[in-house]
Amino acid sequence: NANGLKAGKTRNIIEKMDESGKNCVIFYGSQTGTAEDYASRLAKEGKSRFGLDTMVADLEDYDYENLDAISEDKVVMFVLATYGEGEPTDNAVDFYEFITGEDVSFSESADPPLGNLKYVAFGLGNNTYEHYNSMVRNVNKALEKMGGHRIGEAGEGDDGAGTMEEDFLAWKEPMWAALAEKMGLEEREAQYEPVFGIVEREGLTRDSPEVYLGEPNKMHLEGSAKGPFNAHNPYIAPIAESRELFQVPDRNCLHMEVDISGSNLSYQTGDHIAVWPTNPGQEVDYFLDILGLSEKRHQVISVKALEPTAKVPFPTPTTYDAIVRYHMEICAPVSRQFLATLAAFAPDEASKTEMTKLGSDKGYFHDKVSKYHYNIAGVLRTVGGGQKWTSIPFSAFIEGVTKLQPRYYSISSSSLAQPKKISITAVVESQVIPGRSDPFQGVATNYLFALKEKQNGDPNPKPFGQTYEITGPRNKYDGIHLPVHVRHSNFKLPSDPSKPIIMIGPGTGVAPFRGFVQERAHQATAGETIGKTLLFFGCRKRGEDFMYESEWEDRKKALGDSFEMINAFSREGPKKVYVQHRLKEMAKEINELLEKKAYVYVCGDAANMAREVNTVLAQIIAEQRGVSEAKGEEIVKNMRAANQYQEDVWS
Ligand code: FAD
Ligand code: 2AM
Repeated sequence: NANGLKAGKTRNIIEKMDESGKNCVIFYGSQTGTAEDYASRLAKEGKSRFGLDTMVADLEDYDYENLDAISEDKVVMFVLATYGEGEPTDNAVDFYEFITGEDVSFSESADPPLGNLKYVAFGLGNNTYEHYNSMVRNVNKALEKMGGHRIGEAGEGDDGAGTMEEDFLAWKEPMWAALAEKMGLEEREAQYEPVFGIVEREGLTRDSPEVYLGEPNKMHLEGSAKGPFNAHNPYIAPIAESRELFQVPDRNCLHMEVDISGSNLSYQTGDHIAVWPTNPGQEVDYFLDILGLSEKRHQVISVKALEPTAKVPFPTPTTYDAIVRYHMEICAPVSRQFLATLAAFAPDEASKTEMTKLGSDKGYFHDKVSKYHYNIAGVLRTVGGGQKWTSIPFSAFIEGVTKLQPRYYSISSSSLAQPKKISITAVVESQVIPGRSDPFQGVATNYLFALKEKQNGDPNPKPFGQTYEITGPRNKYDGIHLPVHVRHSNFKLPSDPSKPIIMIGPGTGVAPFRGFVQERAHQATAGETIGKTLLFFGCRKRGEDFMYESEWEDRKKALGDSFEMINAFSREGPKKVYVQHRLKEMAKEINELLEKKAYVYVCGDAANMAREVNTVLAQIIAEQRGVSEAKGEEIVKNMRAANQYQEDVWS
């Protein structure tokens, strides 16, 4: 098991629950950590408010054939994110296939099979995607069909509307009430009980060889990292090249080449690369400072789970500094519920009252916290007027702050043209927020920017005022490196290069298409026949943010007339011109290509662009073929189902 399950550890969830005296398991299917986070929060709340004996479980760590043997005094919760095009998250694939399978076969063969199962379900989705929350919907349907008894509603959180957290909070109260009634639980005043114990290790210093300073696992600590490289084990890849594609006051765009030749990693054109970021130095300092841990930042500590089913989310012994810098999502939005938990540890009564109010009053929380994009240290600094919050047990942060997550980038190179070098095209975020003194900065993008600066000779790079640990102890390597792994995707060119393709990718959405066009140019040079290769690219102005301008010219030389790039410059004239406007102008040709079974690819902004492109294509089909718009929509839908219309979109 990739997750490092030790041999002999049980995959039998019922045995596990009985062994450890649990009556509630919360399974999570999580890609970016949010579902896992919600699962932990439900576990904590179930325990502290209702006295449930809870455990959190990764869906990939267990088997499900004996779910029918669960006893009626237990409850099973599912917190399930939907990923991409209605797919399960990587860790939920096996579970999903099993539970929604045609003939699920359980150990007891009772009728109905899941008549004893009490379950709770919450889904995390994004309504800008077509298959909104399909994971929780389909799993719920399957469980119901097999006789399972759901407690409360099957909740649905919407990341697209930006209401995930509030949807979760609104869903869980009636769910708890229903569960308490069903299981005869009595609510009590919630008391914080740490899940992890922290032990200061007096004999060790940060120079001791067994101390982790950001290394993700033992192999890395010992300097003998080897594959398979995956979501649990990154490859620390040398950066072969990095440069800026353009720079405008509020945005920079980076191009990077990551060298994977020293690893057994491989990729295919259209895949994603996962980048493991490091937190910015200033944010690490703020965080440690407000907790009064600055002096102790390099103190070596061991972290132990006080519960048999809890997992310490990073290797130890380690230091406070390393945990905060490499393992915690300290810059992320704060949850109201977490602030309510921290209220009990406020440095004075006024701060306690304020934290309680922030925790319970949605509008107030928005005006004071969300509006300014404050992170946890930002809130603590504001609420306490700068007093240190020394009473908060560090365990509360290990439990309450998400694990630092890798970020995905659509690989912008062709594996045929450069199998051992992966290109990344990323826009660096720095947003000015009214009423906030410093700009808001994305974690991974600014880290990449710092790596680029360092590589190009700036000894102490400070993108937008931030410093990063770049050649720190984590990198036992010469030169500039980036921890990465590859995630395979379904966004793929037709295997026959003579098939026509239409690519639509404004802004960074052009990333995978750089790879697609590079691939076709490579094939053309090798003498293969290449089908029509149409690329719609949108940006603000030719002279401002036209990415890879000279490269497209070179590709044209290799591909000749089969390659055509159509630009939409949105800010050059009096009216906005977007890629979908250009599509409309070429309606006839587009329709002809579609009739020749051209593949359509859309990449970039999931919120508006991808949907608008879908609508415009349906309109084009309707107009050109003289059918209704509804029919046009249906044709596009069928194209999607046949993989003739593929999306690689993000919000
Ligand atoms: P983060 O720090 O993660 O912040 C991201 C956003 O979260 C912010 O803009 C803000 O809206 C919100 N946020 C974060 N912290 C707070 C806070 N404290 N309060 C309120 N809001 C907050 N990007 C590219 O540039 N190129 C690509 O090719 C590309 N491909 C992708 C492919 C896939 C499949 C996916 C899922 C994403 C892709 N992305 C791509 C996006 C990329 O993964 C990152 O999301 C992006 O680079 C931002 O990462 P970051 O760490 O800099 O920002
Ligand atoms: P704008 O910023 O001038 O509105 C890359 O970001 C390009 O995509 C920019 O030219 C941007 O234009 C454009 N863009 C913004 N919203 C879009 C949408 N809904 N559909 C297509 N392109 C869009």
